[in-house]
Amino acid sequence: MTLIVTPDQENSYPSLVTALDVRDAYTRGHCDRVCMLAVEMGQAFALPASDLESLRIAGQLHDVGKIGIRDAVLLKPGRLTPDEWEEMKAHTIYGEQIIRETFLTNRNEVAGIVRHHHEAYDGNGYPDRLAGNDIPLSCRILLVIDAYDAMTTGRPYHKARSHDEAMRVLQGESGTKLDPDILSAFSRLIEASPLPVA
Ligand SMILES: [Fe+2]
Repeated sequence: MTLIVTPDQENSYPSLVTALDVRDAYTRGHCDRVCMLAVEMGQAFALPASDLESLRIAGQLHDVGKIGIRDAVLLKPGRLTPDEWEEMKAHTIYGEQIIRETFLTNRNEVAGIVRHHHEAYDGNGYPDRLAGNDIPLSCRILLVIDAYDAMTTGRPYHKARSHDEAMRVLQGESGTKLDPDILSAFSRLIEASPLPVA
């Protein structure tokens, strides 16, 4: 059977956003904030419109694969064991698979960004241990924003860090986990951002 897809449906993905919200409201809120900052960063790097649109959607859906992570791991109120971390890492692969099966016209670009949003600058990230400029620019951008938002919002197992504390931690990861140029750009952007900075 051939599915008929209208142009309207092609670039919409509200069901995925709702699915994530239903599964874990924190993750949905986190993705909303990451998406907003990702667009600002993409503009700061003068990304072409099509890349900016892929980054925007990837910002919103980067953790959609967490739908596939069981409660005992996703909602665990404490540190994950090494085995649980391995399970959690699979959200990058699940997210890629979920997005590749949407009708988004840029699904392959978005899926690629989602797959690689935890690659680290020094090659110690996952799932493919890409390093440096082999990591797509959009992924290096998302990693910085993702880390900042995770630190500055509270969870049951850690309280929110202040903006200054979070920036100190990020600076400590410059050149290892994070691309130094992206971090500098983020630092300038967040200082000038109208978003409330704790
Ligand atoms: Fe993630």
